[in-house]
Amino acid sequence: MSHSPAPRESWGTRIGLIFAAAGNAVGIGNLLRFPGQAATHGGGAFMIPYVVSLLLFGLPMMWVAWTVGRLGGRWGHGTIPGIFDRMTGGKPWAKYAGVIGVALPMVFIIYYAYIEAWCLAYSWFSLKGTYVGDGQHVVDLAVFLDEFLGMAPTHNYFSGIGVALLFFLVTLVLNVWILYRGISGGIELLAKIAIPLLLLFCLVLGVRVLTLGTIKSSVLDGLNFLWNPDFKALLDFDVWLAAAGQIFFTLSIGFGSLEVFGSYLKEHDDIALTGLTTASVNEFVEVIFGSMIAIPAAAVYFGVERVPEIASAGTYAIGMVSMPEILRGIGGVHLFGSLWFLLLFFAAFTSSVAIGQVVMSFLQDEARLSRASSAGIVGAFWLLGAFPVVFLYKYGALDEMDFWSGTIGLVVFAIFEIVIFAWIWGIDRGWKELHKGADITVPGFFKPIMKWVTPPLLVVIFVTWFMGAILSDSLVPRPSLHFGIEGRAEIHGSFSHHAPGEGDPEYADFQRVEEHLRQVIDDAGHDLRGWLQVTIHPAAPVAISGFAGDPALLERVRPAELQRWLQLQHLSWEPPPGEPAHSLQVTIAFEGRYRKTAIWITRVTMLAFLFTFGLMTWAIWRRRAAEAAGGAA
Ligand code: TRP
Repeated sequence: MSHSPAPRESWGTRIGLIFAAAGNAVGIGNLLRFPGQAATHGGGAFMIPYVVSLLLFGLPMMWVAWTVGRLGGRWGHGTIPGIFDRMTGGKPWAKYAGVIGVALPMVFIIYYAYIEAWCLAYSWFSLKGTYVGDGQHVVDLAVFLDEFLGMAPTHNYFSGIGVALLFFLVTLVLNVWILYRGISGGIELLAKIAIPLLLLFCLVLGVRVLTLGTIKSSVLDGLNFLWNPDFKALLDFDVWLAAAGQIFFTLSIGFGSLEVFGSYLKEHDDIALTGLTTASVNEFVEVIFGSMIAIPAAAVYFGVERVPEIASAGTYAIGMVSMPEILRGIGGVHLFGSLWFLLLFFAAFTSSVAIGQVVMSFLQDEARLSRASSAGIVGAFWLLGAFPVVFLYKYGALDEMDFWSGTIGLVVFAIFEIVIFAWIWGIDRGWKELHKGADITVPGFFKPIMKWVTPPLLVVIFVTWFMGAILSDSLVPRPSLHFGIEGRAEIHGSFSHHAPGEGDPEYADFQRVEEHLRQVIDDAGHDLRGWLQVTIHPAAPVAISGFAGDPALLERVRPAELQRWLQLQHLSWEPPPGEPAHSLQVTIAFEGRYRKTAIWITRVTMLAFLFTFGLMTWAIWRRRAAEAAGGAA
């Protein structure tokens, strides 16, 4: 019995394809991750390695991806297991290597869509003015974000993660609906609406930021921070690694996603120019708008010297904490805040459907399922995989997934892809394939780069990242320590704290205290909670007057130790302007999180996806072999 598969879908128009490809590449990476990475890697220091990476990995891998994809489409395979199988002439390892190109996007989409959901939620909060506060009560946006995600041990602004979960489910339904509508009626249509809107929002926000003038620094100081090259930083290997990582992420390389887009092209549709256009639009949005909004705004509002510190609070801190704070400060949160977060949401939405399509194509092309069943399965996998991301977020599940899929996995995939393309399939054949029907000729020097430069450099990056993780011991999850102020929303004035960093004289002391706290939690084998009564005064160190909590904590940790821990982080409080300094009694919630169980659940979830897609691949090929044998008999 043989199914006659429905004919493969294709793009509606060339311009629609360009919009969709731009939508694929332009995402959270451009508007949040780029400014964050640039700011934490010295601003101007980042840009030279960034451009070099674009030339040595970005563009070559972009063209390879479109070529590999269009080839696959001709053979009726949208996804990598089938394409690698054909390109290697049926080497058994190749299709299993290709399974990475299905499992990675499945893992990636799960956490990427969660961030997408935050953006949707924040545009709603902006519209409603949820985090505006009044003259006396300042909504602490860092705490607001942490409580929204269940990361904070307190519940001042949110009683739990219900709101985040709700927005996640809305985002999931929207994505599955677009996937169900298909290539031209779903992804392409969405991009044709979202991309022009996105550019418009960028312009409005860009103009708003450029006309901010000078508050703590000038707009020009902010722009200079990024555009003054710092040649010393070229010696810093970390900056190179970060730049290469950003190029991969922002161009959507190493996930099998551009390949899937390419597979819906016809044999003589141009890919050389399409690849270049995708990269150019992406770089335009990243380098112009990604650097024109968040960093200059933060420089103007907080002062340019504070930008690296603000960005180092986390990848999303600039976008989710500083930007709303700035927009609230300059006025117009309702309008500009919602625009900013809708912009991020649209950017993310057009990317997440592109990632989801990888799994869709696998189910449609290889497992021969209908579009509706495929969309249903993708939705179900997504929901299952989201469990750790949403519920175990506070243990670092999202970062764990990001490390394995967004850092390690994509390089592994890229190595297989470029080796199969340039060495096994053969660079001469590949180069010819790339130029079939092409509207431009790719400069000839990219050919030796694809064969001789990109592959060894990818191996170097992989080894460094992997060794780095092993050496820094980050593969063994250690407990994390958190505290928060109870009743925060009712207390006037503002709190601040700042842990000592490497190089600070207090760093060693701080490390020692934290080490002991972690040891206690590891020995207990579960989370430990405590409540501290403290007295806090603008001009005096915090003092603990009471301590309650988990017996395992009370038994082994002295209040003085926790007091020292808070003091080393310079926890302090300022009354609102006009109110005289006085001391304040507050309750501090402490939480030590035992992370091992949660992180292992996350790892097993990821492995389960790899295993499931591997097993499906095995079964599909076995059935095909049986069918072929039956047909021959
Ligand atoms: N490029 C996207 C961004 O900048 C993220 C991304 C990475 C992606 N890999 C992908 C999107 C694969 C779609 C497919 O945010």
